[in-house]
Amino acid sequence: MTLIGNDVIELVTAASLTDDLRQDVFRGLSMRPKTLSSKFFYDKWGSELFDRICELPEYYLTRTERSIMRTNIDAIAGALGPRCLIVEFGSGASTKTTFLLDHLVDPVGYVPIDIARHHLEQSAARLAKRYPDVDVMPICADFHQDLPIPEPRRLQESTVVFFPGSTIGNLQEQEARRFLDRIADTTGPRGGLLIGIDLKKPREIVVPAYDDAAGVTAEFNLNLLARINRDLGADFKLDQFRHEAVWNEGQSRMEMNLVSLYDQDVQIEDRTFRFREGERTRTEYSHKYTRGHFQRIASSYLTEAAWTDPREWFCVLLLRPRTQEASEA
Ligand code: AVI
Repeated sequence: MTLIGNDVIELVTAASLTDDLRQDVFRGLSMRPKTLSSKFFYDKWGSELFDRICELPEYYLTRTERSIMRTNIDAIAGALGPRCLIVEFGSGASTKTTFLLDHLVDPVGYVPIDIARHHLEQSAARLAKRYPDVDVMPICADFHQDLPIPEPRRLQESTVVFFPGSTIGNLQEQEARRFLDRIADTTGPRGGLLIGIDLKKPREIVVPAYDDAAGVTAEFNLNLLARINRDLGADFKLDQFRHEAVWNEGQSRMEMNLVSLYDQDVQIEDRTFRFREGERTRTEYSHKYTRGHFQRIASSYLTEAAWTDPREWFCVLLLRPRTQEASEA
């Protein structure tokens, strides 16, 4: 199947996404602590809020990664080589990819994969127009599932998965390992993974990035409840929950919660969920890595190159599946 332009390959439909949300919400709210999956943040409004988060003064991640990419783009483009097929998981507004595609030598295709259909369509249309020689083949899907990667019309020299923004940090360690192993199957031995990871740093810098003064992250977090109200007909009262962002030193991660301000019942379809005053519902983990820790998680890869910023707040890595080494031996 090869669809070119902004025709979206739809592996997730609105109906299947609602089913997935229902399952996740019912399961997560029956757990202790209650948990909701961060992948459901990204409805249309949630995606817009996330774009605003990326520009906040406290949210250093996007800015730092962008500056690393800018400073090292010639080395990055050189290492990736000509005629790449770029596959991006969780592509959102594809802003970093535009910069990458501008500097790659004759890229043959771009496969943005995102669960947020509206954002995906818009960015795919923009990129298809900007790069007439690149086959833009958007896939609306949950990137945690196995995905068939469409083939561009011109044969690629290599398949490169681009996974910026430290989105890997939203997965728990086991999930992250499995996910990275799956990507290695996608890229094949001649391909690579260009990935951005947020590095461990003092909590005074990290916590405000998830609890900004303007309250955008709070709105992003609470929007998850608004989405559940809209898509599942639930009756969450948004003003009866508050956003919380805490640093967990032992696990080296930010944890976002929604804290119930009162004892209250919430009706979701035919189920009633009880929230106690002060009870936390976990909505997101955001892991911060040391280089060594990440290398252990990505043990199925060899690090070909690593680029960082002067403060070493963030790192962009080019990883090659270890199978390459095996196949060349
Ligand atoms: C998408 N992901 C990498 C963001 C992060 O930093 O964990 C999501 C986010 N959550 C709150 N602010 C941003």
